[in-house]
Amino acid sequence: MPDLAERAGAGPAAQRILELLPEPVILVQAAEGEAPEIAYGNQAAREVFRIELAGAPLGAALRRPEVLEAIEEALATSTSTEVAFETIGVQPRFWRAFAKPLGIDAEGIRQLVVVLRDETDARRTERMRADFLANASHELRTPLASLAGFVETLRTHAKDDPEARDRFLGIMAQQATRMARLVDDLLSLSRIELNEHIAPSGKVDLSRTIQDVTDAIRPLTAERGVSVAVDSPAEVGSVIGDRDQLVQVIQNLVDNAVKYTAKGGTVRVSLAAAPTLEVARAASRPGVSLSLLSPDASDGQAYVVLRVRDEGPGIARQHLPRLSERFYRVEGQRSGGTGLGLAIVKHVVNRHRGGLTVESAEGEGATFSVYLPAVSHQP
Ligand SMILES: Nc1ncnc2c1ncn2[C@@H]1O[C@H](COP(=O)(O)OP(=O)(O)OP(=O)(O)O)[C@@H](O)[C@H]1O
Ligand SMILES: [Mg+2]
Repeated sequence: MPDLAERAGAGPAAQRILELLPEPVILVQAAEGEAPEIAYGNQAAREVFRIELAGAPLGAALRRPEVLEAIEEALATSTSTEVAFETIGVQPRFWRAFAKPLGIDAEGIRQLVVVLRDETDARRTERMRADFLANASHELRTPLASLAGFVETLRTHAKDDPEARDRFLGIMAQQATRMARLVDDLLSLSRIELNEHIAPSGKVDLSRTIQDVTDAIRPLTAERGVSVAVDSPAEVGSVIGDRDQLVQVIQNLVDNAVKYTAKGGTVRVSLAAAPTLEVARAASRPGVSLSLLSPDASDGQAYVVLRVRDEGPGIARQHLPRLSERFYRVEGQRSGGTGLGLAIVKHVVNRHRGGLTVESAEGEGATFSVYLPAVSHQP
């Protein structure tokens, strides 16, 4: 066991605790006029920084000059220092090192503890937050710029042109509607995320819910010349869920399917029971299938699978993994949507501890499958 830990007064219990800490801890000692050396590294330090030997020069183990500098400064001034640094490897990681002097022992050896904190996840979250804000602002800015442009035109050139005025007002109304939808979707997404860690506990008759949603959009699909065929046997059973959120899931999937189906085509919505996760996850037909979300396996859990299949242009393979990212839209498709629909679907399904799969290839239509934990039947 580390003699520095002992010399610093750490009893066996304290040493065991040091050993078990998830964060790397390194004890450093330096005799007068000599380079600091490692006295001890706990298990995390040994794993992450490959610190093997007590007595190794600090510079050999921690190759970052800025960290060494912070340690030297802490030793020299007997004050705490901290420094952020990066390690490169298969995956770059971001660290913050805290160097805290422990004092000088009877033999004049200076002692110091270095605690390392892994800030990679925090950095990533921060990065995602910044990206999200940039994307959201950009999406709002585009229709806003167009509105401002038309206001200006109406005030000047189109002032005395009733025909142009009507046309511009029509476009402005559309842009305003689009912005309102975007804001609604963003609010909806943030509400879902707020309680994503709390699984719903209600019981939802999915067959009924599908009927309700498809009945409601029928006038619209009829107008577009697309038929919606529903095969949702009532005996499939219920799922554990939040009805309003599941309505959003069905609506988004059916909306997309209808949007990409040409006149005369059919969108098929079906419901089936799956006794296990493997069955629920399985592809519905040969071809490209990709899981966008998959729950942790839980023993004996049965699922209900909702499938929405369309006869649209399909989606090229390279786009599949990114479909459920916020604001992601396949290039060249002017869907007019916000790109938030599938992100909402994914977060709702995740809250329900379910899964989401997409099967598609260019020219072959697309099938989106959502599976949700079934309500177990007590015999
Ligand atoms: N059934 C489908 N067939 C072909 N492409 C699809 C289909 N469903 C989704 N996509 C593609 O995935 C993208 C993301 O879909 P998503 O529903 O998240 O956004 P959106 O439909 O563009 O906007 P929103 O749903 O917010 O109105 C779409 O823009 C489209 O490119
Ligand atoms: Mg959509």
